[in-house]
Amino acid sequence: MNLLLEEPEVAPSSAQESCSLDNYLAMPDHAMDGRIAAAREKLGASTILLGHHYQRDEVIRFADFTGDSYKLSKAAAETDARYIVFCGVHFMAESADVLGKPNQQVILPDLNAGCSMADMAEISQVENCWDSLLAAGLKPGEVVPLTYMNSTAAIKAFCGERGGLVCTSSNARGAFEWAFERAEKILFLPDQHLGRNTAFAMGFTPADLVVWDPFQINGGLTPARLRAAKVILWKGHCSVHQRFLPSHVDAVRAKYPGINVIVHPECRWEVCQKADALGSTERLIKLVEDAPEGSSFAIGTEIHLVNRLAKRFAPLGKKVITLDDTGCLCTTMYRISPNHLAWALENLVDGRVVNRIQVQDDVKHWARVALDRMLEVKA
Ligand code: 13P
Ligand code: SF4
Repeated sequence: MNLLLEEPEVAPSSAQESCSLDNYLAMPDHAMDGRIAAAREKLGASTILLGHHYQRDEVIRFADFTGDSYKLSKAAAETDARYIVFCGVHFMAESADVLGKPNQQVILPDLNAGCSMADMAEISQVENCWDSLLAAGLKPGEVVPLTYMNSTAAIKAFCGERGGLVCTSSNARGAFEWAFERAEKILFLPDQHLGRNTAFAMGFTPADLVVWDPFQINGGLTPARLRAAKVILWKGHCSVHQRFLPSHVDAVRAKYPGINVIVHPECRWEVCQKADALGSTERLIKLVEDAPEGSSFAIGTEIHLVNRLAKRFAPLGKKVITLDDTGCLCTTMYRISPNHLAWALENLVDGRVVNRIQVQDDVKHWARVALDRMLEVKA
């Protein structure tokens, strides 16, 4: 990717100066297609659109690059485009800002596109946890903090400053290995399920793991339990993936004998244990792509991705269904509508940057250290 540009200088603007978002939201979704395409064309190489796999079809079809969190952060780190429009959620846009070059600006079309899991770990809670670990007798070099990508930039910086790193679902195992080469224990934030699934895949047992509950005194753990643990899991989860249950796996296998059950590692350990394979969104797609004609899959992940795969692979003789009939929607990813995208792009065409995501410089430094370490660990 080498997208050097010629573009008008675009200045940050206030909401009043920008074309009113309300006008866009009053229009039907499909009325946005032509406008998005026209704005994209006018902006040319100055602007790159990154789209996460959970985005709706009406949005992701405009993306220059699609991917899982790892692939999209690499794209953000490598592009020379002046404007990075991130069709994803807040922590992804923050990471793009941290990894981007000084002249680049990152835009999140709807600032309400957050992540409930990332909200489950606040920096002050994490700092308190760290102090409690030290008070329990752990030495700073004895434990490495490792955070899942789905966390705030402040938490990424916290990890970077203390010799730790970031991981995504595609390189969590490599990141655990990286951390265990440097210390005896890991504090894993904020997804207990990804942490547990990764630790079990590496041969750890329940006795090696503890769960730190930020709403309990000392995380609800005794100093002795903390000292004995190898992996301290933060009590966070994804509300979308946690809805998949072991009974869903049993039911789908009973109904469709021979079906492959593949799930995202944010699902509960009990579900992952029953699945045929686990993977990041990118890997789940690859598993279906690489399967022979006639294969069938029940997928435990966000419904937009599952529906898109079902539509794409049906003509190729592969059946794809959701693991849970009710279909799990990521409501925050869904907030990026074609209307928000058209609004953000047309403002750029008019010389205004709206919804810029900007990480503070002091946080940026250590968050970058942690993200750079992540990019060194292969997916
Ligand atoms: P991936 O990195 O696998 O795309 O996952 C991101 C995410 O938020 C899943 O819930
Ligand atoms: Fe966050 Fe879950 Fe949505 Fe992923 S699917 S962005 S972890 S809420």
